[in-house]
Amino acid sequence: MSEVHTRPVPTNFAANALISAEDYERMYRQSVDNPEAFWAQQAKDFLQWDRPFAQVLEEDMYKGHAAWFADGRLNVTVNCIDRHLTTRGEQTAILWEGDDPANSQAISYRILHEKVCRLANLMKSRGVKKGDRICLYMPMIPEAAYAMLACARIGAVHSVVFGGFSPTSLKDRILDSDCRLVITADEAVRGGKRVPLKANVDKALAECPNVHTAIVVKHTGTAVDWDSKRDIWYGDLIPQMEPDCPPEAMGAEDPLFILYTSGSTGKPKGVLHTTAGYLLMATMTFKYTFDYREGEVFWCTADVGWITGHSYIVYGPLCAGATSLMFEGVPTYPDASRFWQVVDKHQVNIFYTAPTAIRALMGAGDDFVKSTKRNSLRLLGTVGEPINPEAWEWYFSVVGDERCPIVDTWWQTETGAHMITPLPGAMPLKPGSATRPFFGVQPALLDSEGQEIIGEGEGSLVIKNSWPSMIRGVYGNRQRMLDTYFSSFPGYYFTGDGARRDGEGDYWITGRIDDVLNVSGHRLGTAEIESALVLHGDTAEAAVVGYPHDIKGQGIYAFVMLKSGCQPSDTLKCELIDLCSKEIGPIAKPDFIQWAPALPKTRSGKIMRRILRKIACNELDNLGDISTLADPSAVDALIDHRENC
Ligand code: PRX
Repeated sequence: MSEVHTRPVPTNFAANALISAEDYERMYRQSVDNPEAFWAQQAKDFLQWDRPFAQVLEEDMYKGHAAWFADGRLNVTVNCIDRHLTTRGEQTAILWEGDDPANSQAISYRILHEKVCRLANLMKSRGVKKGDRICLYMPMIPEAAYAMLACARIGAVHSVVFGGFSPTSLKDRILDSDCRLVITADEAVRGGKRVPLKANVDKALAECPNVHTAIVVKHTGTAVDWDSKRDIWYGDLIPQMEPDCPPEAMGAEDPLFILYTSGSTGKPKGVLHTTAGYLLMATMTFKYTFDYREGEVFWCTADVGWITGHSYIVYGPLCAGATSLMFEGVPTYPDASRFWQVVDKHQVNIFYTAPTAIRALMGAGDDFVKSTKRNSLRLLGTVGEPINPEAWEWYFSVVGDERCPIVDTWWQTETGAHMITPLPGAMPLKPGSATRPFFGVQPALLDSEGQEIIGEGEGSLVIKNSWPSMIRGVYGNRQRMLDTYFSSFPGYYFTGDGARRDGEGDYWITGRIDDVLNVSGHRLGTAEIESALVLHGDTAEAAVVGYPHDIKGQGIYAFVMLKSGCQPSDTLKCELIDLCSKEIGPIAKPDFIQWAPALPKTRSGKIMRRILRKIACNELDNLGDISTLADPSAVDALIDHRENC
């Protein structure tokens, strides 16, 4: 590999860091040598309990079972809001920046308390009880955070569906977890463009007979269709609700939320997280990874529809009593300096984004950055996909003026919080490496036989032990959780990622080793896209693979075999692309469609994706062994077609 340009811990950080190199070594050792004592102490330090726990951990990794602090009771919103009221009631909890630079709003912890309680009471008035599932399909507006927290207030389980998903995806998710109430808005606005959320909800709910209520926030004020039995306006009813709502005392292992994510097979899975362990690890990682100091402004640019938004816009920062910036817009609107304009406007101290955004902004040129000051920034972070060293260096030198460490945080929807990440005062930074495990996390690399690789090497990334924010289930399908995460390598949690460990013990994530794509930091299953493509009457079969894409990290490459008698055409390509957008959402549109006379299959009928990936990457002289194919000439035909398209 190319030479690594290691950056020592910046001296300003080494001197004042919350966690020094020595602290990290000592605390990490303690966390793996005596996890129960370590985590019991953290849980007492970071969380406020209604009833203290006596049990710390019960785990059986062979069965995918973990229970943390199980006999303790607490409420997430007491931790994220109520306990701050005496000391920081007037401090801004959520700093909202609209898509239009003229719109912003500061919501104090006191106001947040009132908004959350009123919405919780509105949900109660519609019959919502502890354990009920509530679907949120929201723009990036403060009401999205109110809605998540209002669910947690009364023990309802939220399932946030990203506003970019289609009505069909929304319907599938509502039905899968049997949500009875939906919270949405008339429209979302991103980069000046409107997204018809309410109209999408109307389409989805036409096939969801159990949904009795849709609470609708008026955001843009556009006219929307109305079902007077089902739909209610948030703004009309909230003022009539009581401004206080007693928090439901929740068991530590009671569900907090479900979040759907793509896997290698079938439809997206509803990843289930529970109350105490999730909140503890979101908060602790927030504080230590970001070296957070009282009074700082933290900005995570993710959407609340993804796990990053859950853990680092809402739960982690608010539980830590921070000011969390929530941004409705996109990095390039009105122009490519928007992120840095917002940093200056709100004096952001800690900034957390995805490599895809960094690459896109890097492409727009340095002037957009240099026209801003950014002198409030102290720390930068990335998440969602591997960051290429070139983008890392640009982020470090142009955005951070070589002053701000970058934390490259590796984690997943299923892990709930950071798992492998630098702690900025404790570790030298290596562009492209997520470096070391967080406290209590014991990663390992396994070879193809399932044997642990010791020292330097590359293999499948697994985790040996449970951690507090580990996935607790796949909603409604325990077996699917076991099959996906706990059976490839019995006794370990399998991440689906490959990784390399260098001679100094630092981890380099190499990307997914299953049939999951990472497009602009968004996870998509190849199977989901293939299912959409075969819905077209002209498609006989389809196979989707990823290929390297300069901005998105990975692009979507679809091989489509048509039914006999059907003719390839540009119109047909457009129809297929539209179908993916309609079935899943615009993020699932193929970047490239190649017509395939046949797909390369083994004699047992399995598509050989390894070969398709090579063709998509244009590595035609490196196809590997094709002797096991039922019909090796299928490969030649694909290569001919690639060259002609
Ligand atoms: O492949 C890894 C990649 O994103 C996947 C998880 O996606 P999702 O559940 O949507 O969560 C994204 C936000 C946590 C992982 O399996 N990934 C995430 N962070 C990194 C990463 N790949 C490399 N480096 C990272 N820092």
